[in-house]
Order: sequence, then C-alpha cells, then structure tokens
Amino acid sequence: MRVLVTGGAGRLGRSVVSGLAARGHDVTSVDIVEHTHASGAVGVRADLLDPAARADAFERARPEAVVHLAGIAVPFARPDVETLQVNTGLAWAVLGEAVERGARCAVAASSPTVYGYNTPSWRPRYLPLDEEHPVEPWHAYGLSKAIVEQTVRALARTSSACTLCAVRPGYVVAPEEWAGAPTQQGHTMADRVADPALAAVSLFNYVDAGDVADLFARIVEHPERVEHGGVYNAVAADPLAVGPVDGLMARSHPGSAPVAGALADGRAVFSSAKARRDLGWAPTATWRDRLRSDRVR
Ligand SMILES: NC(=O)c1ccc[n+]([C@@H]2O[C@H](COP(=O)([O-])OP(=O)(O)OC[C@H]3O[C@@H](n4cnc5c(N)ncnc54)[C@H](O)[C@@H]3O)[C@@H](O)[C@H]2O)c1
Repeated sequence: MRVLVTGGAGRLGRSVVSGLAARGHDVTSVDIVEHTHASGAVGVRADLLDPAARADAFERARPEAVVHLAGIAVPFARPDVETLQVNTGLAWAVLGEAVERGARCAVAASSPTVYGYNTPSWRPRYLPLDEEHPVEPWHAYGLSKAIVEQTVRALARTSSACTLCAVRPGYVVAPEEWAGAPTQQGHTMADRVADPALAAVSLFNYVDAGDVADLFARIVEHPERVEHGGVYNAVAADPLAVGPVDGLMARSHPGSAPVAGALADGRAVFSSAKARRDLGWAPTATWRDRLRSDRVR
C-alpha cells in the first residue's frame, strides 16, 4: 500500500516510517526538514502548511493511506498561538487533502494531554482513563490536540470512503532513548523511573515508539476495523514506576485521590483496551525489560 507519513523525520515518525516499510508498504515520508530513511522510504522536504508544497507531496506519494504526525509536539515549546495555529491548521489541511484525493484511511496523532491533568482542579471521574472519559484541555498544546480530534470527527461526518481516526500515544520512547539518550523532556528514561516526580507530570505513562508504529500500521491495513471518527489511547500496559501508582497519583494529583485505588493492582493510569478490542493491538515493550540499569531495579 502507498502510505504518506507526515512528520516522518521526528522522534515517532522515524519508527512509524521504518515499521511501515518493514511490512512491505511503499512509504513517502514528508517533513519540513531534510531527511532520509535507511529503510528505503522516500524522504520529501515540504512545509505542509504551504498549499503548493502539500499538493506536490501528495501528487508524488499518491497515498492510499495517510499517517499524520507533523506538528509542534511538546507543550510550551513554542508560543501558544503558534502551537494552536500550526497543529490545527496542519490537521485540517493534511486530513482534508487525504479525503479529497481519495485515500482510504487517514489517522492523526493526538495526545493524552487532552484529558487536562496538571491543574489543581483536575478531578478524573474514574481511573484508568479510557476514551469515554471527558476531555478537559487547559494548555494550548492539549487544546490543539482536542481540536485535531474534532477535526477527525468533522471530516468523518462527510467522508464515508476515507476512514478517519486519531491516536493518543503516551510519552513516546524512541529506540535511542531506551539506550540512554535524553527523552522529550530532557531526562533519560532511567531518571524518570528513579524520580517519580518526573513521570508524575505525564501520569506515569509511556509507550515504545515501535509499539505505536504497530498500531498505526494496523489502522491503515484494516480501516474496516476502525471506529470511523473515533479516537484510540496507545500507552504501555504498566506505569512508569517501580510499584503501583495509586499512592503516587493521590499525592501528585490530589484530585485523583478518590478514584486512585483502582490502580492498586499495578495497572497503568490510561487504558488502551479499545485498541486491543478493535485492532488486536497490545503493547509489547515494558520499561522493566528495556532499561538495563541496576539503578532502576
Ligand atoms: N513524543 C511524544 O511523546 C508524543 C506523545 C503524544 C503525541 N505525540 C504527537 O505525535 C506526533 C509526533 O511527535 P514526535 O515526538 O515525533 O515529534 P517531533 O517534533 O519529533 O516530530 C514532529 C515533526 O513534524 C515536523 N513538522 C512540523 N511542522 C511541519 C510542517 N509545517 N510541515 C512538515 N513537517 C512539519 C517537524 O519537523 C518534526 O520532524 C506529534 O503530532 C505529537 O504531538 C507525541
């Protein structure tokens, strides 16, 4: 299948491109930065907010499926208005182009930050957080991702030929980050296990980039199994902590205390059961196997 991946030069994009290529797909990776892929995927440099450059990229790739990852990927990394404009503008432009040009499937990266944690007033209704739980974004990045999810829903209302959905990957861990490179927030994975205050900010979630790549591949290969216009959480099965996180959650996010007891058996704060149910997806990586350091045992 011909698949166009946007943001293919990024932390997650590199694994998504190589994963799709390894499954035999004909992959075109589009990014605003110059890049190449060892997997044989074609790397195209284009600013996808530029209509002419976007049209050219789509004409070259003639995609049957689109995986949309490009954007500003970190909260507070850029001015708020820029984060909103870039992430929402890219989603409408790329997903809309996919529909107009006859792709059979288009999937966009959202984020667990749509749930709106890290404010003193945050009160989860229940845990673990599944896709039925209300979204309550409060920062520009989280809001931009909530709008990306609404963009998927809006386009799905008028498109029956192209199946659309969004995926909320957890804190993505790329291969080099398992090996000790600094992660998105600047700490290593070993640091994040050793100091619960670091992982508390993302509710102790994480997910291996290769596992997320596997979910995107399942979606584009089996659009008939996907909830059209829907959203899927994608996180590791266990929390990024040495033991259960019920007590850590109650201390670091006091509004969660009334419902945190549900995590006492060691489960993650987020549920990916819907992706398992619809697509047979099960994350394979756990930090306990991937981190070799004695420091975190
Ligand atoms: N990394 C995570 O932990 C995480 C978690 C949840 C969701 N996500 C989402 O997944 C996606 C990928 O994240 P990532 O960690 O790989 O981010 P990243 O910053 O490494 O990659 C994003 C890529 O998008 C490209 N890009 C930005 N603007 C562009 C434009 N106008 N045209 C073309 N390319 C453009 C960038 O050059 C970059 O390579 C993002 O949408 C992010 O919000 C990431």
